[in-house]
Amino acid sequence: MNRLLRFFTLQLTFFTFLLSLFTYPSSALAQTWTTIENGKTWMDTEGRPVYANGGNFLLKDGVWYLVGEDRSSAWMPDVNLYCSTDFVHWKFVHKIIENRRSHPDLGRRRMIERPKLLFCPETQKFVVWCHWEARNYGASEAAVFECDSVGGDYEYVWSGRPLGTKSRDCNVFVDNDGTAFFISTTDENTNLGLFMLTSDYRQAVSKTVLCEGLRREAPAIVHIDSTYYMISSACTGWEPNQAKLCVSRNLHVGWSRLFNIGDPIAYDSQASSVLTIHGTEQTTYLYVGDRWMDPTLPESKIIILPIEWRNFHTGELSKTKDENHRQMVLNYRDRFEIDFKTGVWRDF
Ligand code: DGJ
Repeated sequence: MNRLLRFFTLQLTFFTFLLSLFTYPSSALAQTWTTIENGKTWMDTEGRPVYANGGNFLLKDGVWYLVGEDRSSAWMPDVNLYCSTDFVHWKFVHKIIENRRSHPDLGRRRMIERPKLLFCPETQKFVVWCHWEARNYGASEAAVFECDSVGGDYEYVWSGRPLGTKSRDCNVFVDNDGTAFFISTTDENTNLGLFMLTSDYRQAVSKTVLCEGLRREAPAIVHIDSTYYMISSACTGWEPNQAKLCVSRNLHVGWSRLFNIGDPIAYDSQASSVLTIHGTEQTTYLYVGDRWMDPTLPESKIIILPIEWRNFHTGELSKTKDENHRQMVLNYRDRFEIDFKTGVWRDF
């Protein structure tokens, strides 16, 4: 009798296990965790350090592209492009903009900082906007380069002061309707200039002054639901400082005052972008920053932190933004895991 009972119990356990395979959420079974570690030098697939600071990430046709300053030649950075399908293994693709080759002044009278890669749906071309500067930061110009393929030799389009405005630290922002903007620190680091671009992303057509007189740089904008969020830093060279956040319902007017976000030195980083990871289960936002001079300029690191959301009334934190959790919070983590397919992240 005992034996018979054990037999049926075993059968039942096996049946329950089989059933659980079918009823368990498929995403949980298929979860692919990617570990992101901060503070370490990223190595490329050839075992060489990844040099790509002050740049941005672009997701195109399932491939991540990382563009940024190659500070191995500290004061004359070329622009490197890497690609990855898993955000962990980064293959060096090409120096898409190179001293001398891309422009006769580059590497002599001009250097590039903060190259930002865009894909223009109208022209089907890849476009780079960047800070185009003299060694003493007196030129205060921007430059635009363009290429038919993501990993080719980018051709110089133009350089100068956008709409006649002195322009330094910069970023790009593409709104949900595809309108692209160049945003930079203008007027001797006094204001931010939000420049709307032509539909071919080659020129600036209009300017809105933001953060007037507040002396901000490294502006990173993200549009979430009906709100624009902008993280920026003060202008303290390569030294980190308190990151601040402002929000608005309208990109051009009505920006709030600046609120502190993160610790007093932005966890030793300076914002370069906020990535939106639209997953099958949730949307996650990732803060991307540069940890400059760690300890030297070429050894600067890329820092990535998941953004959390606080319930203003209870203080409770959430990994996702909803009606009750709307206050953006930046906490430091040496490492965390994210599933880029589902958008779910967790502590390691
Ligand atoms: C901080 C900026 O964000 C960098 O891009 C660079 O311009 C340095 N300042 C130069 O001091």
